Amino acid sequence: MVRLLSIHGVFKHAMIVVPGPASKELGEAVAAQLGLTAQPVEHRLFPDGESYLRLPEGVGGEKVALVQTTAPDPDRKMMQLLIMARTAKDLGAAHVAACVPYLAYMRQDKRFLGGEALSLDVVLGLMEAAGVDDLVVVDAHSASSLAEIEAGHRVKVHNLSAIPLLAEYVKERGYDGAYSLSPDVGAIRLAEAAGRVLGGRHGYFEKSRDRRTGEITMEVKDLEVGGVNAVVFDDIISSGGTTARAVEGLKRQGAADVAAACVHALFMPGAEERIRAAGADLIVSADTVESRHAGVTVAGLIAGCLEKL
Ligand code: R5P
Repeated sequence: MVRLLSIHGVFKHAMIVVPGPASKELGEAVAAQLGLTAQPVEHRLFPDGESYLRLPEGVGGEKVALVQTTAPDPDRKMMQLLIMARTAKDLGAAHVAACVPYLAYMRQDKRFLGGEALSLDVVLGLMEAAGVDDLVVVDAHSASSLAEIEAGHRVKVHNLSAIPLLAEYVKERGYDGAYSLSPDVGAIRLAEAAGRVLGGRHGYFEKSRDRRTGEITMEVKDLEVGGVNAVVFDDIISSGGTTARAVEGLKRQGAADVAAACVHALFMPGAEERIRAAGADLIVSADTVESRHAGVTVAGLIAGCLEKL
């Protein structure tokens, strides 16, 4: 049965929030923010590694919000998301919103070397084919590349940002007025947004990565941060190399306390040690990926976005 709710005289489909296997806790928190009870998905792995998924009954006719991050193990989690989305549509869902706080493959948003896959485009194409109407992500690697790729698909993308939440977090822990740094000019908007919360100056170092070896070089320019607290803001910490270089650069210039903040805490083995060894006094991330560093939640951001769909 299709339930229609009247909001200010306009009839809307009711919403069902379904946390996927990768985001049970976050999905439940999103549902709670919306005053709903999350509807669990049944999930198990077959011995050969395939995923079995069964959606809650009653998604037919409703708006369905799937909450499923895509790390660690991006390929499996992406596949689970696509299976859930297609199934929701097959069962008659009126609308499917895929809330993917960390969207895997978003860094491969250009052909940096001839012959490379444009992976982000492939991902959006798959979402479209699976019946996703709206895609909610947090801090896409490049908002402009995502917007360009989005233009070629029917999926409507909503790119939210957890940077102000991370800035509030560090502000409450002694970093009020701190210098906000992005480790790369491409991410300067992160330092700008954080600077608006922290009230200090902001700037960037110049990072470049060898496209074949992955090796990072960072040009550490003088930022006059002697005796000043500073925070490195990046979208992703993976190997930790980028953030460690930036923290080290700030410390070498005499910065006082230095914090490392990222949205998506992929933290490959050794990442935390690398960042601590560089001199970071505080490490924090959002909960887009389950992490022991998660100090802020994006549940409210996602719920706020879903409310408007
Ligand atoms: C890339 O440009 C991203 O914004 C991050 O800086 C990068 O993914 C961090 O990777 P890692 O921790 O391996 O240096």
